[in-house]
Amino acid sequence: MERRMLFPQTGGLVHGGDYNPEQWLDRPDILEEDVRLMKKAGINSATLGVFSWSVLEPEEGEFHFEWLEEIVEKLYRNGIYTVLSTPSGARPAWLDAAYPEAMRVNRIGMRAHHGGRHNHCMTSRKYREKVSIIDRKLAERLGSHPGVMMYHISNEFGGECFCPACVRKFQEYLAEKYEHDIEKLNKAWWAAFWSHRYNSFDQIEPPFENGETSVMALNLEWKRFTTWNTNDFMKQEIAVLRSVTPNVPVTANFMQLFNGLDYRKMAPELDVISWDNYPLFHNDWETFGETMYGTAFQHAVMRSLKRGKPFMMMESAPGLVNWQTVNKVKRPGVHRLACLQAVACGSDTVQYFQWRKGRGSYEQFHGAVVDHMGTDDTRVFREVAEVGELLKKIAPVAGTLLHTRAALLFDWDNRWAIQDVKALSQATKKYEETCIDIWKAFFRLGVDMDVVGSDEDLSCYDVVVAPMLYMLQPGTARNLKAFVERGGQLLATYFTGYVDSDQLCYLGGFPGDGLKELFGIVSEEIDSLYPSDRNGIEMADNSRWEVREYAEILRVHDAQTLGVYTEDFYKGTAAVTCREHGKGKAYYVAARTDADQMLPLFEKMLTDAEIPMRKLPEGVEYHVRSGEEGNFAFYLNCTTREVTLSGVKGRDLVTDREIEDSLTLPGYGVAVVHFV
Ligand code: GLA
Ligand code: ZN
Repeated sequence: MERRMLFPQTGGLVHGGDYNPEQWLDRPDILEEDVRLMKKAGINSATLGVFSWSVLEPEEGEFHFEWLEEIVEKLYRNGIYTVLSTPSGARPAWLDAAYPEAMRVNRIGMRAHHGGRHNHCMTSRKYREKVSIIDRKLAERLGSHPGVMMYHISNEFGGECFCPACVRKFQEYLAEKYEHDIEKLNKAWWAAFWSHRYNSFDQIEPPFENGETSVMALNLEWKRFTTWNTNDFMKQEIAVLRSVTPNVPVTANFMQLFNGLDYRKMAPELDVISWDNYPLFHNDWETFGETMYGTAFQHAVMRSLKRGKPFMMMESAPGLVNWQTVNKVKRPGVHRLACLQAVACGSDTVQYFQWRKGRGSYEQFHGAVVDHMGTDDTRVFREVAEVGELLKKIAPVAGTLLHTRAALLFDWDNRWAIQDVKALSQATKKYEETCIDIWKAFFRLGVDMDVVGSDEDLSCYDVVVAPMLYMLQPGTARNLKAFVERGGQLLATYFTGYVDSDQLCYLGGFPGDGLKELFGIVSEEIDSLYPSDRNGIEMADNSRWEVREYAEILRVHDAQTLGVYTEDFYKGTAAVTCREHGKGKAYYVAARTDADQMLPLFEKMLTDAEIPMRKLPEGVEYHVRSGEEGNFAFYLNCTTREVTLSGVKGRDLVTDREIEDSLTLPGYGVAVVHFV
């Protein structure tokens, strides 16, 4: 098997983080000390330049790269490689003063004042021009330096702009999409409703808060446009860098299940996927294990954006953060556990925000490897240094991949459409939570599902779960049908196949587009329950599932009924069905239940698909990465108690001991077991 190491020059796994020397240029002693401390902490990479624009170009057209070059060089001489960021994440004051068009206009049409960050008009010609100039200079000056191993584009893209230039661009985007035929748009948008017909594309405004928000297709197109426009901006940055240094890989740091951008549309432009991971550790509404499982889901989303390559955990907090409602410190041992989880889930990097705490402003109290105290004898520093050691021990993992035969479908379009649809109960739609709960249930069975789009190639999977797939993309139904035909086990739920990609309802019964034939059912009504309402499902094996929030009333045409409702006027009617199709099976679960109650059904699907399960004690995570170096089984104890697992064989790279069968992990303990 091929080994796809991202950064061989680092020796395998990357250990690094955001480094802001521009905040310390008047303290050469501190900049010297940084290098010493980095080496002590086993750091082999630093992310430079993320917000350096006002130091790199203090006046329009006056550039200062010498300080940055000196630092890149010094780090390189000390074995530390640079992730070089373009500075477009925050604009200098001179830029906004000279070109106010770079400042965003908000949802009620008001232009922002200068300040903050991540708040640029992505359409602004002047802003794009200024970004291109500085990116080109950066690449020319530093892109070929042997210490530069990657470009980091801007920072955490996100947000919308309603300025006149963006409105015009949106109109052009729509004209292109609907082939310059306004009647095509009127038809797709069901425009005769409330007299919402347009005569020309230039009459269309985005969904201003005090404007048109009642056309579902318009709202969705605006979201699609925002992704398209942000992507267009990002592509422009990438094109400039590639024109100078075509061989330096590029990434852009994504965020946890970010709602504002469809990352699947942006992923193909990047060489490597990276993301910023900030779990709410030790919160008071879920167990620590639940928080960790939720994070494993987030890693799976990122991993699946580029199957076939490791991803990067570009940021994480070495200690605490400063922006959560309660900024609780990670308990001893949790840092190591969370870092190893990232690697276990397919990351080849453990990177932090930030290396050293700044003295002032918004993030002065955000955790860092080096505290204001400035020493290496802090708990946080020691834990980071320990991770540095550990990453060296498990370096053979670099370049290996997770191979899974199960996938969960999650679409941004579907997510946006569900958020916006005027139906169900506004408070309990919970598309994301439903996906995460089901993903976690499979995870409890030892199955690390990928998270993929409904129009992606499913040929490498044997089990696919598609929760609440309300909107079908043009190829989705065909994709799912082909998947079942060739032997796949498919499970869909209530609220599947109601609308097409313009959000027009399918006629003739849901789920539409041929799915009612695939599942052998039609959903005639959907009942939304009040928070305290309950129904139940009695399964053929006499087990009972509790139903809350949603229950569809089905007509069964050509499927086996596996469970029926126990209450209300639809008592005794089908709630869970299965239809055999080709070599596979299509399950339909018509009501919302806890995912854990569906475990027997999931086990049946996995058994039929011959996917091995590995049930471990609650709170113990298990992931396997494989490659030409063999297999690496990660065991993570996400509890504070000691656990002993049996059936473990191989060499634990953490302790460098051979495990014959039984593995004991202390609270928050980790093992990386290498086996052939
Ligand atoms: C984000 C940003 C960083 C920093 C951290 C703080 O991830 O990318 O610049 O603000 O949050 O947690
Ligand atoms: Zn704009």
